[in-house]
Formats: sequence, structure tokens, C-alpha cells
Amino acid sequence: MPYKTSFVTVALALVSATSSAQADIGTAIPLRKRNSLTGPDGTFNYVATIEHGVKIANKHRNNLLNFRRNTGRLPEGVSAIPPPAVLDHIKGHSHKRQKVPLTDLNDDEEWAGNISIGTPPVTFFVDFDTGSSDLWVPASSCTGCRGARGKYNIAKSSTGAKMSGNFTITYADGSGASGPVFTDNVVVGGVKAATQYFSAVTDESSELAEDGTDGILGLAYPQISNLGQNPFFTTAIAQGTTKQDVFAFKLARNGSELYVGGTNAAHYSGAIEYHNLSSHIGYWQIGGASAHVNGKTVGGIATFQTIIDSGTTIMYGPPADVKKVYAAVPGSKVYDEDQGLYSYPCNSPPAIAFSWGGKWWDITSDNLNLGTTGSNTEECVGSLAGLDLGLGSGIWLLGDSFMKNVYTAFSVSQNAVGFAKLK
Ligand SMILES: *[C@@H]1O[C@H](CO)[C@@H](O)[C@H](O)[C@H]1NC(C)=O
Ligand SMILES: *[C@@H]1O[C@H](CO)[C@@H](O)[C@H](O)[C@H]1NC(C)=O
Ligand SMILES: *[C@@H]1O[C@H](CO)[C@@H](O)[C@H](O)[C@H]1NC(C)=O
Ligand SMILES: *[C@@H]1O[C@H](CO)[C@@H](O)[C@H](O)[C@H]1NC(C)=O
Repeated sequence: MPYKTSFVTVALALVSATSSAQADIGTAIPLRKRNSLTGPDGTFNYVATIEHGVKIANKHRNNLLNFRRNTGRLPEGVSAIPPPAVLDHIKGHSHKRQKVPLTDLNDDEEWAGNISIGTPPVTFFVDFDTGSSDLWVPASSCTGCRGARGKYNIAKSSTGAKMSGNFTITYADGSGASGPVFTDNVVVGGVKAATQYFSAVTDESSELAEDGTDGILGLAYPQISNLGQNPFFTTAIAQGTTKQDVFAFKLARNGSELYVGGTNAAHYSGAIEYHNLSSHIGYWQIGGASAHVNGKTVGGIATFQTIIDSGTTIMYGPPADVKKVYAAVPGSKVYDEDQGLYSYPCNSPPAIAFSWGGKWWDITSDNLNLGTTGSNTEECVGSLAGLDLGLGSGIWLLGDSFMKNVYTAFSVSQNAVGFAKLK
């Protein structure tokens, strides 16, 4: 059970971190965003949205498999690992598929920025993902990996070491990456984790190779690590290299950033409303949530759990609950029953908000809108979808469509997620 050892290390480090010398400041890492679920003409990209849903379902299925391997059990409320999600159901929707601007498909749904690995450091452009816990980048020996910036070559790093075992991640039929495991120095915005476990993948499916980033840096907890090791931020905390055991995201059209080692007061106003994690299964999961439409709490939905996941583009909830949300939206219609997608009149978008017992955090009409249902329609597809992701009953997954509305802080010292008003 490597994760148990990891927790001991972290706990000790938290104590020592208060007394030992620290890096002086948190550091901002600029992020780049490309948005793909809406086509260049403003229409909804159906295929990209379904593909994203399949990828997210499989990502969280992988997390469950990792959790079971690391802890010997399944999280409470999950009775079985769901079967892998597949793309088959697209076939029944060829009429919708045809109106998809396919040229946009490889544009991506991630928030990516630079990190460095090794001595001397090599720069990699990675997706920062609060919904997974491993770091992987391409290996120099990987011929199929495109590599936006760098490729890792153990022979060229004086601080690298090869470890035993292999890393594997699979998202859908044929989509995934795998490779051997190493440790080396990893630096994210000036915060260093020495002997950080990661994989330099030697095999990468074309879908991932072409997505414009080098790899992924997972920012969730050790329990869901495929490597069964501490993720970057846990290591940095254990080594006392972060000023505060907090990182925070501003996700916006302009000026997005990940701030490591604290929060960046330049980007938010007022206090941060923190909520303790409701579960310690490896996710940034907080409970006691409710949904609101046009100033009223949606009835008939018990307070629910939410996983805050920067690696998910939209928002997903249990199909029956999401149906209740849209039932409260005047003029809403089912757009695609299988995918739990709904539309609403573009000229009178609903005010949808979530709360966790404190403020109501509104989703702007821009962030709710995934695009029009066609080139000349007045119906817009909503970024809240009803899809069963096998995460357990009553668990919602709030991705970028939510995070773009707030400043989001992830506190390891408090085991809490906080929201503040964006400046
Ligand atoms: C990442 O680093 C490269 C140089 O290696 C630079 O051109 C690029 O702008 C950086 N990207 C971001 C988002 O900081
Ligand atoms: C890791 O993968 C390599 C290459 O596929 C294989 O030779 C090796 O046996 C694997 N190791 C483990 C521990 O699975
Ligand atoms: C992004 O920032 C630039 C320069 O500050 C501004 O001209 C542009 O309108 C902004 N774009 C958005 C979508 O806010
Ligand atoms: C949150 O957790 C802290 C311990 O980390 C505890 O002191 C505090 O009372 C908790 N807050 C709530 C609202 O449960």
C-alpha cells in the first residue's frame, strides 16, 4: 500500500514545514486554453462533446481502478468498477455528426502550462488536472509522441533514475499512453519536487499525441495514482518547498493561471469560502451542494457531492437530477437523451448556480453555452449534462464550465476546496 506510506511522509512534512526555511512566494504559471466543444461558427460540437464524455468516464474509471489497487477496496458508495465507456453510441447519431466542424476536433479541452523536468531542465507543456494524480510526458524514444515542447531522455539528466514497473493510462478504444517509470526533479512555477515519480511514455495513441500538449500533471491525492506514488504537489509539501500548501486556478478566456504555493490576491476579491473535503478517496470532493435556477433552489434533489476537476471541460450530474435542473429552465428541451444533453433559448439563458451552504456561485451565460444546436437556431446546448460516470450515486463532476466562474483554491493543509469571486 504505497499510499499509506505517502500519508505518513506528508503528515511529518506538514509539521516540519512550519519551522524550516521555505521558498519565499507562490508562483504563477500562465495557462493556455483552447476551446473545442463549440465550433468556429458558434455551433455545438456534438462529437467532441461525446468523445470528451467517454474520455472523462474512462479517466474516472482508471482512478477507481487505481484506488482499488492502492487501498485494497472501493470507495464507499461504489459497488463495482463500471465497464469501460465506448464510443459506439455515436453511430446512431450520424445526422448530428454531419454538422460537426471536424477541423476543430483536435483542438483541445485542457488548461496547459509549462513545467520542467531533469538536470539540466527540459521544458514540457502539460495539462494541469485536479482530477488525476500522475505526471507523464513523452520519452525521447517514443516515435509516435509528437511532443509540443520536450521529450524526456534519462541519459541526459544527471538527477534522473529509472524505477521499476510501468505506467498505463487508457481512455477509450485505443486512446492512451504507457511507459516506464522514473524519478527526477520536477519544477512547476519555481516549486521543486526532487525524486518525483513520473512516467516518460514510450507509447502514446495518436489522439493524445496530437492534442497539442506533452502530457498531464495530476494534482489530486495519492490514492488514485496509477504509479501508486505521491503526486507532484504532495512531494513538494513533503520536501517543504511550497510556501503554503495551497494551489489555485484562475481559468478564463484571458490571463488564466495556476498559482502554486498560495493564492494570487490579484485575481480575486473578498474571502475564499472553503469547504472541507467530504471524502478522502483521492479527489477534490466536497459535499452539501445544491443547484439553483433563476434564484430558486432546484427541488427534489438531495444535497450532493461534487468533484472539482480542472481536467473536465463541462459539468456532469446524475441524469435524473440534471433532468430536474432543466425542468426548472423555461423553454428547455432534451437535445440528446442518451448523452443527457439539453438546450435552452439562447436569448433567455437561465441563471444556474451551485452552492455548498454558503454563497451561490453563478455560472455566466457564456460558460453555460456550448453553442447553438445548428447554424440558424435560437437554441443553445447547456454545459451541464446528465451522464452516469460510475462515480457513485449523487456525485457530480464540476469541470471548467464551473471553474471559469470562480477563483478556485485547493488547500492540502486544510483538506478543503475554496471559491472566491474573480476580480
Ligand atoms: C511555454 O514555454 C515556451 C518556451 O519553451 C513559451 O514559448 C510558451 O509561451 C510557454 N507557454 C506558456 C503558456 O507559458
Ligand atoms: C514493463 O514493460 C516492459 C516493456 O513492455 C516489459 O518488458 C516489462 O516486463 C514490464 N514490467 C512490468 C513490471 O510490468
Ligand atoms: C483578452 O485581452 C485582450 C487584451 O487585454 C482584449 O483585447 C480581449 O478583448 C480579451 N479577450 C477576451 C475574450 O476577454
Ligand atoms: C473543517 O476541518 C477542520 C479540520 O481540518 C475543522 O477544524 C473544521 O471544524 C471543519 N469545518 C467544518 C465546517 O466542518
